[in-house]
Amino acid sequence: MLETLAAQYRWAATLSPPDVPRSSAVLMAGMGGSGIAGDVAAAVANDAPVFVHKGYGLPRWAARLRPLVIAVSYSGNTEETRSVVDDALEAGLDVAVVAGGGQLGVLAAERDLPRVLVPTGLQPRAAFGYLSGATLRLIEAAGLVDDTGLEETATIVTTLLGEAMDGPAVPLADDLAEALSGRIALVLAGQGVPAVAAYRWKTQINENAKAPAFRSVLPEADHNEIVGWSTWGSATRNWVGVVTLRDRHESSRLAARFAPTLEQLERGASVAGEVWAQGDSPLARLASLAVVGDLVSLALARDAGVDPVPVDAIEALKRRLTEQL
Ligand code: F6R
Repeated sequence: MLETLAAQYRWAATLSPPDVPRSSAVLMAGMGGSGIAGDVAAAVANDAPVFVHKGYGLPRWAARLRPLVIAVSYSGNTEETRSVVDDALEAGLDVAVVAGGGQLGVLAAERDLPRVLVPTGLQPRAAFGYLSGATLRLIEAAGLVDDTGLEETATIVTTLLGEAMDGPAVPLADDLAEALSGRIALVLAGQGVPAVAAYRWKTQINENAKAPAFRSVLPEADHNEIVGWSTWGSATRNWVGVVTLRDRHESSRLAARFAPTLEQLERGASVAGEVWAQGDSPLARLASLAVVGDLVSLALARDAGVDPVPVDAIEALKRRLTEQL
């Protein structure tokens, strides 16, 4: 599935997006592997107000600010995302949908909502390029982003993965996976683009390698979390591996924080390695960091002997909740 990632970005770059009203603000709705498209959109459209809403219903300010609501759900059936759409339509807000079909696909067709139907047959999290790319094209159509960076992103991902999964990101990910083996990953990144990539790392390790992983964001972590690594020493150092995600576009004030933060973290965690973003556009930089995390999660799954694809715990929980209704 990961081999199709560059083609997914290319697909989004050539998409003809539906007409959406020009908007001064966007509210992104979606959960999990679909919801991260909202985080990507917010990081890329940094000059525009893009609010990420992961949960039920609408925040109360939406009735006043009247954002364009973009709902993203690969299955089209996620109950939280459907509830946002129901409430947004009820409130008379503009709604656009990115889905693989499902109930949201049906509703969007019935109501003739602006919609992008993405190719199906993948796990939602493996449709990252389709979902984030289509979302960015809608935000571009709404007048909130000038250049999505999709073309550059496709080129960089192709280079990093290689034509036959023999690109430079593969051995880098193998080395990082070896350093993380038997350890809980703590992915440390600066605010903005790298922080979204770090969140993708965390969730990909959770879902593909079926392992715990956490994300910390600078500068916030310097105001609380660093203290938490002071006391337990080797008890946590043997169990936690820190990967830092860096970006040449990060501000000098942010850059100055990494070395002293790592020094503090090393009291209770081991340093597994660092990855630098490639490219110029925010999306290319984000994707270049995220794709290494995807590979690390797959290498960890392989080394642990687990199948990266199924997410039985999520499916079982969704079934339980549906039965309760
Ligand atoms: C599965 C995955 C999950 C789903 C989430 C929401 O690969 O990553 O996080 O994305 O349960 O479902 P959808 O994406 O269908 O709205």
